[in-house]
Amino acid sequence: MPDLLRFTDERSGASFEATIASDSIHATALRQAGLVSYDPAFLNTASVKSSITFIDGDLGILRYRGYPIEQLAEQSTYLEVAYLLIHGELPTATELAAWEHEVTFHTFLHENVKRLMEGFRYDAHPMGMFVSVAAALSTFYPESRDVDDPDVRMAQVVRLIAKTPTIAAWSYRHSRGLPYVYPDNELGFAANFLSMMFRIAEPKFEADPALVRALEVLFILHADHEQNCSANVMRSIGSSKADPYVALAGAAAALYGPLHGGANEEVLRMLEAIGDVRNVPEFVDGVKAGHGLLMGFGHRVYKNYDPRARIIKDAADRVFEVTGRNPLLDIALELEKIALEDEYFVSRKLYPNVDFYSGLIYQALGLPTSLFPVMFAIPRTAGWLAQWLEGVQDPEQKITRPRQLYLGHGERRFVPIDAR
Ligand code: CMC
Repeated sequence: MPDLLRFTDERSGASFEATIASDSIHATALRQAGLVSYDPAFLNTASVKSSITFIDGDLGILRYRGYPIEQLAEQSTYLEVAYLLIHGELPTATELAAWEHEVTFHTFLHENVKRLMEGFRYDAHPMGMFVSVAAALSTFYPESRDVDDPDVRMAQVVRLIAKTPTIAAWSYRHSRGLPYVYPDNELGFAANFLSMMFRIAEPKFEADPALVRALEVLFILHADHEQNCSANVMRSIGSSKADPYVALAGAAAALYGPLHGGANEEVLRMLEAIGDVRNVPEFVDGVKAGHGLLMGFGHRVYKNYDPRARIIKDAADRVFEVTGRNPLLDIALELEKIALEDEYFVSRKLYPNVDFYSGLIYQALGLPTSLFPVMFAIPRTAGWLAQWLEGVQDPEQKITRPRQLYLGHGERRFVPIDAR
């Protein structure tokens, strides 16, 4: 059987052929028939060839570079996973030690960045600060514009992975009017983040190891998710050869939306608004009647339980053993139970996604709700950068430039203002 798709334009009777490779045809094959493919929101369009992350949405499978997410969450660390995403292979012990050292020694921010952050209003949303500061870093590292130089690229990768927790923690300290805490190079990635968040006057901040591990697991789960909205933005901006700081700021802005990484914030607000387990059926009825969405449910790709949600649910139990049970958990469990049995959600294959339980953990860790999307952005930095690296090195890629179906007016004569 030849790997060919034959199609006929019944208007003219002309037949055409398109080569099938990797279960796809090249969209330009349609040009033979004078057609373009129309695919708003990319429902059935592969925009890249990628070797980073694999998702099977029907089976609920997620793998980074071939490794199942469950094994990485169980046995790995965030920095090891970041190395895997960026370099394509798990590091040896020597490579990991060097990578950890590199990242740890780039966690500080220029003092002028601190002053920039101090200029925000006290109630600035931390995600707005994160987006702004990520873009501002471009002005501190002007050499980053040389995106064709592999060494320059890798220097920015290390800087961004290292500095995003510092930006995140300082945006929180700012909102509380607390002095910004400098990174502690003796601590691991997640422990250092908690130190920058919560250290007050103690010489060394010592977080509970169970909480540090839970945070590592959350970071691992959020590190990449193939061609989602923000990864697509990262690649799209990167395709114009803009530097990775402004590209990452754009990706973070995309993540900020409530349908993407802002959903974890919205889930918490939803659970608080429901207020009591007894109100869950009424809330679900409202969703079914079209009054809003059940936040933290549904996914463009997963038509099965999001494997990350399952792991987070287990992590939540371990966190609550330390912090005490989050009272909103009962509402979440009841929502999940009702939704998973209800025809509306079952027929649409709507299952809990990564954001449904993550917010409950963040809240138990003492993080304010507005910081939740930033907690998503910290680890997703590794994924965005892996996607960006793959994109800028792909010889088949060019500047992103979709086509449109123009449905507006034909040419018409300008009408002077006094004649309108
Ligand atoms: N609550 C109620 N109904 C829903 C929901 C929901 N959360 N999600 C989808 N539906 C319905 C939707 O109304 C539609 O119904 P109908 O066929 O009657 O018109 C059907 O399910 C299909 O939905 P869709 O909008 O075509 O699906 P999509 O692939 O465009 O959207 C989504 C995916 C994640 C944006 C959407 O499910 C959603 O808005 N969920 C809530 C927000 C959320 O939790 N986002 C986090 C996603 S996971 C983390 C990340 O990667 O960012």
